[in-house]
Amino acid sequence: QNIKLNDLSDIAETSCRNANTLLHEKRFNIVDLDPFGSPAPYLDAASRSAVNLLEVTATDTAPLCGAHLNSGIRKYAAVALNNEYHSEMGLRILLGSVARHLARHEKGMEVLLSHATRHYVRAYVGIKSGAKNADRTLKELGYVTHCDNCSYREWKKGYSVFMEQTCPECGTEMKSGGLLWLGKLHDRIFCSKVIEEIEKRPLGKKKKACKIIQTCLDELDIPFFYDQHRLCKQLSVAAPRIEKTIQDLRDKGYAASRTHFSGMSFKTDAPLNVIKSILSNMY
Ligand SMILES: C[S@@+](CC[C@H](N)C(=O)[O-])C[C@H]1O[C@@H](n2cnc3c(N)ncnc32)[C@H](O)[C@@H]1O
Ligand SMILES: [Zn+2]
Repeated sequence: QNIKLNDLSDIAETSCRNANTLLHEKRFNIVDLDPFGSPAPYLDAASRSAVNLLEVTATDTAPLCGAHLNSGIRKYAAVALNNEYHSEMGLRILLGSVARHLARHEKGMEVLLSHATRHYVRAYVGIKSGAKNADRTLKELGYVTHCDNCSYREWKKGYSVFMEQTCPECGTEMKSGGLLWLGKLHDRIFCSKVIEEIEKRPLGKKKKACKIIQTCLDELDIPFFYDQHRLCKQLSVAAPRIEKTIQDLRDKGYAASRTHFSGMSFKTDAPLNVIKSILSNMY
């Protein structure tokens, strides 16, 4: 019925079969994996089948975001840190897993759009076939260490990397997470095109959808956002407006942006001590 409504009879078909059997048998230009719960049991078949575009939804945010650590290790072969940026952690763990599944089939990926909204994570990745592209993609995976005491974090790309365990800011022992995707989360051109297409259509949630994608488009491509509330609590100062913090960081010559992950958070390339001195008006 939907195929007819959208006039897609020549390029789309329906089939009532187990997704794993169908996807292992047949190649599709676009595979949109939207199961109930975890996409993990279908990632291998979907990665084999997808030729141009793979889209994945995950609603199992507890294993992805570190709330159910062992389940995350079982499903995604990764350790997720359940800290203030757990939503971004979940998205990057899913993307890391997608990258590794594609690599088994000698495919690389380019993340076109990805987001963590409400209780799910969603990713759209363009596929680049060939072992070289797969190798290039795997170079974007790595680990993160995080200090729960002062919010200092460090990340490093690579499969076997040495990570400092002691926080250089406060001396606390840090936690390590990974393996996860440390590459880009959005492609600006793709995001603009999606917004253009949404604008043209009579869709119910068009305003909301455009807002999410526009925030993704404007978001800095730097791993792991800062939660302003948490930093201000650590500093015992009142939280300023997020726009002010972003402007202050830019005025000091750093890149800074809002993030779609949370309204009270921001992304920046400024070091933690600079961020903290700006928030306490001591810069
Ligand atoms: C979250 S719904 C998909 C919703 C759909 N994407 C939409 O936007 O309307 C999940 C669907 O996956 C189907 N499903 C669950 N396990 C499956 C499997 N192993 N093979 C094929 N389909 C499956 C369910 O029957 C259900 O229709
Ligand atoms: Zn610390």
